[in-house]
Amino acid sequence: MELAAVILAAGKGTRMKSDLPKVLHRVCGRPMLGHVLNAVVGAGVTKTVVVAGFGAQQVIDFLGDNATVVLQEEQLGTAHALQQAEGEFARYTGDLLVVCGDTPLLRASTLARLARTHRESGAVATLLTAEMADPSGYGRVIRTAAGNVSRIVEQKDASPEELLVQEINTGVYCFKAPGLFEALKEISPANAQGEYYLTDIIQIFVQRGLTVQAVTLEDPREVQGINDRIQLSRAEKILRRRVLEELMIQGVTVMDPDNTYVDQDVKIGRDTVILPFTFLQGKTEIGSHCIIGPGSKITDCVIGDHVKIEYSVLAGSDIGSHTVIGPYAYIRPGTVIGEHARVGDFVEIKKSTVGNGSKIPHLSYVGDAIIGEKVNVGAGTITCNYDGKNKHQTILEDGAFIGSNTNLVAPVKVGRNAVVAAGSTITKDVPAHALGVARERQTNLADWAKKRRE
Ligand code: UD1
Ligand code: CA
Repeated sequence: MELAAVILAAGKGTRMKSDLPKVLHRVCGRPMLGHVLNAVVGAGVTKTVVVAGFGAQQVIDFLGDNATVVLQEEQLGTAHALQQAEGEFARYTGDLLVVCGDTPLLRASTLARLARTHRESGAVATLLTAEMADPSGYGRVIRTAAGNVSRIVEQKDASPEELLVQEINTGVYCFKAPGLFEALKEISPANAQGEYYLTDIIQIFVQRGLTVQAVTLEDPREVQGINDRIQLSRAEKILRRRVLEELMIQGVTVMDPDNTYVDQDVKIGRDTVILPFTFLQGKTEIGSHCIIGPGSKITDCVIGDHVKIEYSVLAGSDIGSHTVIGPYAYIRPGTVIGEHARVGDFVEIKKSTVGNGSKIPHLSYVGDAIIGEKVNVGAGTITCNYDGKNKHQTILEDGAFIGSNTNLVAPVKVGRNAVVAAGSTITKDVPAHALGVARERQTNLADWAKKRRE
């Protein structure tokens, strides 16, 4: 049986108090809608339609060609939202998952199980329910004495007895597509919120004598809907732990999971150790046997094996195997550092290449530079790469030795195995194997200090 999905994502999310549509708020580095989309795709869905409304353009920009977007101009309720997708399913005869865009913890396996149960039971609708210790805010699942689902009642419409029901509607459903959109037309907004509730479809089916099934989740945390920023922070915590445990299962040591922040797309090799207060973000990939942290932030970087990074910030860069970074290094986008290299304390590198075995151990700024292999950049070396208008390149060829406190005024090149004397301001190229000295000669005045004292 074919499986398609509709993700309801048009709501403003008033309780978020935000300019951003609710479904684009991030959990572990990815918008909630992205998490839901991944779950849906992972469940084997072949076509996904997202209903967008508030901030639709931002939603469209985020989705790209990963889903078809339909617009719900006015947010008149979840049933009305689903109706907007009707045109996309005119000749579709398979099953249809309906999911809310604000449940980022939902697992693909849960959706797959819901779809399987639905298919096997032959029901027209199967809803995913959960037992919540605190069900407040959710729709309650009302069952007959025989235990069959008869309807869903929203919190705001529920009687005092109904409010005591702890089985809640997760907002996730699987429907037989044929007949669904016709049935939606029977829903009226005669309720406390004056909205077209998708939940009313259950009672409509039951009254027609059609079979409605329910699948109940063991772990209700998975279907927590995010309506405000407090719930957002709770989801963040749960998902962060899930990501870290997945890494631990794969052989990564995480010393303190409560203080380690890893985005969901990050890849880490085995026997790598992640120390506390470390943030690994975006599309970062880290090899095996590395020690990362404490106190590092690494965004969109590719890191080799046996690398050490301590108290450093890295973005958009590649770091070769066996290289040591930090403490307190700042590696900015466009930087490529080779293997067995060393970047030490208070060194900033921007958009530069550093070859294998080269060392920039202390207090340097390196920008727009090409540094060869086995180059030694002394403490306090600065590339003067910017003249106020344009950026210029510095080239340090293999084996060059740059004395401490050197200014390299770009564009400039230091040739192979050349040496630059400490304290030089180099404005002209230094040929290979030469010594470049660019500082005033020292004069010693005999007994000058002694005379001053007398
Ligand atoms: C909904 C369910 C409730 C369930 C809960 C689970 C209804 C009437 N209620 O309530 O039974 O327990 O989810 O989290 O369905 N949306 C639109 N267009 C609209 C309104 C909403 O696209 O006109 C989208 C929202 O963007 C959101 C989703 O539908 O992603 C759910 O809407 P929300 O307002 O959060 O519904 P709840 O009140 O949480
Ligand atoms: Ca909700």
